[in-house]
Amino acid sequence: MLHTYTSGSAIWSAFAKDSRSYEPLSKDSETDVLIIGAGITGISLAYTLRKHGYDVIIVDSGEVGMGTTGSSTGNLYVPNAKFQKILSGHDRKGVEVVASSRAAALGFIEDRINEFSIDCDFVKVPWYYFTGRKKDIKEIEKEREAINLSGVKVTGTAAADFPFEAQSLAYVGAQAQFNPLKYVRKLAESVRDQHCRIYEKTKVTSIRDYDPCYVETTGGVIKAKKVVQATHSPKGIYAVHAMMEVYREYAVAAKLKEDIPAGIYWALEGNEKYSIRTYDTPEGKYLIVLGDSKKVGHSQETWQSFQKLENYLKIVFNVDEMSWLWGAQNYSPSDYIPFIGKSPMEDNIYIATGFAADGLVYGTLAAMIISDMIAMKGNPWSEFYNPARLKPVTSAKTLQENADVTAHLIKEYIFKGSEEELAGIGKGEGRIVEFNREKAAAFRDNDDHLHVVSAKCTHMGCIVHWNDAEKSWDCPCHGSRFTIDGEVIEGPAFGNLEKYWRKDSRNI
Ligand code: FES
Repeated sequence: MLHTYTSGSAIWSAFAKDSRSYEPLSKDSETDVLIIGAGITGISLAYTLRKHGYDVIIVDSGEVGMGTTGSSTGNLYVPNAKFQKILSGHDRKGVEVVASSRAAALGFIEDRINEFSIDCDFVKVPWYYFTGRKKDIKEIEKEREAINLSGVKVTGTAAADFPFEAQSLAYVGAQAQFNPLKYVRKLAESVRDQHCRIYEKTKVTSIRDYDPCYVETTGGVIKAKKVVQATHSPKGIYAVHAMMEVYREYAVAAKLKEDIPAGIYWALEGNEKYSIRTYDTPEGKYLIVLGDSKKVGHSQETWQSFQKLENYLKIVFNVDEMSWLWGAQNYSPSDYIPFIGKSPMEDNIYIATGFAADGLVYGTLAAMIISDMIAMKGNPWSEFYNPARLKPVTSAKTLQENADVTAHLIKEYIFKGSEEELAGIGKGEGRIVEFNREKAAAFRDNDDHLHVVSAKCTHMGCIVHWNDAEKSWDCPCHGSRFTIDGEVIEGPAFGNLEKYWRKDSRNI
């Protein structure tokens, strides 16, 4: 059977069922530090801040771990196949800092698993970056060289049970995998007490950088001396949004008729990169493949990404049953280094973003850095990851991307909102239409109900695009995503898309 999920719910939730839930916030509150976002960044930060003696509140618009953390691949590794790119913008010291800080974050995760006896299917596995194509050999060799310069022990020889045909590879031993949802939920349970309050289904609607900060939520106002945006992309308008490209990747999980040894396998095929891993469950072993990265809101036929991954799986492996599919978002900085630390234009607000497809390790690292900064303890990596580090010239490529976005918007084909046009929208189909001289996002559900919301993104006014695989309205500018009824799913937008109407018949 094929399971499909519209957002945030991957294979991990099926095997992390016995976790507790938390009530929404229901009254005004005060705290030392408010953490927005209960993924791996927010929950790890709650742990580190409690160690420094701070009172903490965590709020999440959804449930603990069910955002980006729960959509990840659950892979934990030091080398991330971007070391040669990092080397091109930094000197050797840059890759050394990335390697040592990421190794420390991996150590943090393993320490917490041991400290709280977290049963999260944690295993040590090898990491491979390889290609089966002669044309890509140079690329692998360059990456191997860059990893070597970082101080990580890497070789070009695979272990005897390496299951692929490779022309060239990079092999690093003793990396790790787990079920990220099991880990973060158990860590949340372990840190929660009267000085670490967790509220789910509590949406932040505005943040004011006062002393103390004044944060409005759907459950009341929270006053906090410091606020940390652990939301993957900070809510509101920040310069870092212009310095990141936003991608959506897709993942499928399948049962195979063959056995593949546990490992983190990254297959390079020209411009395509596939992340492959196995996951052992009481139901048997699954193979997970993630890839086909696409800019958010730039393609309406996102369903093709799933089909492409399925085809890849079926060509390379002996597939028994396709079982799960889901999407995941990533924010990629122009210099391949995340933005972690105090927001450059604010006094009491901290951000952690730009993890690319690497949020489990970088999110943990962000918790280590930001807690030290709030506690005014020295941190060896805070300067390197400082959000204020980029000069405009460094992010020129991304600014160009944003110019492309504008052109893209001009080219957008708008259906005139005549009754015939609206009636022409089929079940399960979404279209941008012109309605009363405004651009509207219209979707017809399987019960023949038409859902119409404003097409204008509430972040900075770009026009959203239809995502046919996940049935969502996605903004091509900075990656905000909305449900068919306009509710914010993720991204920097605070507000929902304005609701025009929901028509319960097909007579329009
Ligand atoms: Fe920035 Fe939509 S996410 S304009």
